[in-house]
Amino acid sequence: MTDVTTVDTKAPSSPGTPPPAVRLPKPVQMVLLAGFRRRFLRSAVKRHGPVFAINVPFFGRSVVVSDPALARQVFLASTDDLINVQPNLSRTFGPGSVFALDGKQHRARRKLLAPPFHGQSIRNYEKVIEEETLRETATWPEGREFPTLEPMNRITLNVILRTVFGADGTELDYLREMIPPWAKLASRMATLPEPPFNTGRYSPWGRLAEFRRNFDRTVFELIEKAEADPRLDDRTDILALMLCSRYEDGSPMSHQDVSDELLTLLGAGHETTASTLGWAFERLRRHPDVLAELVKENDEGGNEFRQATMVELQRNRTVIDAAGRHVQAPHFDLGDWRIPHGYTVIIAIGNVHADADAFPDPERFDPYRFVGTRTPTAWVPFGGGTRRCIGAAFANVEMDVVLRTILRHFVIETDDAPDEKSHFRGIAFTPKDGGRIVVRRRG
Ligand code: HEM
Repeated sequence: MTDVTTVDTKAPSSPGTPPPAVRLPKPVQMVLLAGFRRRFLRSAVKRHGPVFAINVPFFGRSVVVSDPALARQVFLASTDDLINVQPNLSRTFGPGSVFALDGKQHRARRKLLAPPFHGQSIRNYEKVIEEETLRETATWPEGREFPTLEPMNRITLNVILRTVFGADGTELDYLREMIPPWAKLASRMATLPEPPFNTGRYSPWGRLAEFRRNFDRTVFELIEKAEADPRLDDRTDILALMLCSRYEDGSPMSHQDVSDELLTLLGAGHETTASTLGWAFERLRRHPDVLAELVKENDEGGNEFRQATMVELQRNRTVIDAAGRHVQAPHFDLGDWRIPHGYTVIIAIGNVHADADAFPDPERFDPYRFVGTRTPTAWVPFGGGTRRCIGAAFANVEMDVVLRTILRHFVIETDDAPDEKSHFRGIAFTPKDGGRIVVRRRG
């Protein structure tokens, strides 16, 4: 794409200057952001530098940040100054979702949700992850190319359903059927403004509302069953942990909030991880040396190189390329720039991960850059600060177990196929052809 932005100011002359602005008509900026996001943002960085302003429908006047140190400043800003981006995913998940909360309420909810996402709880889920991987891969064809993205989506959905709700059952079969079409539609609609009039039950909004009614009904039945379970206190699933947990004042979460939060975890917790795994196969097919090292290490029982590979994967093929905040303070000073009240601040995670000072030769896929080193602060696939992804450790263990299980049971064939392009699914970037590979079972 040619560079279509026009320069306003190149660099701040004195502290407190507004960032340079992309001076294209608002609808054009919207089309570029929606349809050519990565190229648009990179081209704007080249022209304006790492902090620039855009004006788009939905988020309104926004400042895009691509510099690692400034991104960190945004993530670590006081929650009195910057609150969650407005509007946000609570439009999809409901007002009881953690995405809807800020300040004290957000802190209290994060504390309440923390136990299921800590070390030992996550270790308890490893068996479920391995079982689901074996179940899904049992029917993988040998010697014929197929896309891995959908299988990965099924694995991560089944894992999150089982870890969230505990056991298998008819309600879970129902959710297993209804979540994928809902997730597809909800992702597409995530950044579209809802019309102020009733669009009818067959419109996308009508279908989302109907899904929501059915989801709540199913969850309320599961809550009723769980509350009648004499072993509720011993259960390790997230629903049970939520029902047993209490805020500092001793009050429990309301059932509607539990339902909103469960939908949040199902929605936020499976496509993201599946998309990253789809990219893992897309990359490994094209990097025989990395694959050989992974197989060798796996056979010897190690995982250091696998960890480094997952870190590099999430840098080089970032699936969630933006995290947002809203300026609540009268203004927010970022480096030398001054961002006014009411602006959106967008951290362009994909651009931060392409910063050549933090990650030399950033386009190269090279897991060795992370072997034996601490992950740099410029690595932010899970966002940062008080809103950093609550499922980061969960996703990491899940990707680790899925990869190690597949490497143990299959040989992945490598070739010099051209890289798959990136495809934006509304929230996550996925490999356009679905991360296609050819496998053979190991003898
Ligand atoms: C590779 C997989 C994943 C990626 C790349 C990812 C990425 C992200 C990002 C970028 C954010 C925004 C952070 C910010 O605003 O600073 C986020 C938030 C969140 N993620 Fe994830 N995520 C992943 C997996 C998961 C999983 C497995 C779960 C749950 C089981 C989950 C639940 C959430 C929740 C609840 C939030 C909102 C946190 C808050 O607002 O306090 N994510 N994630």
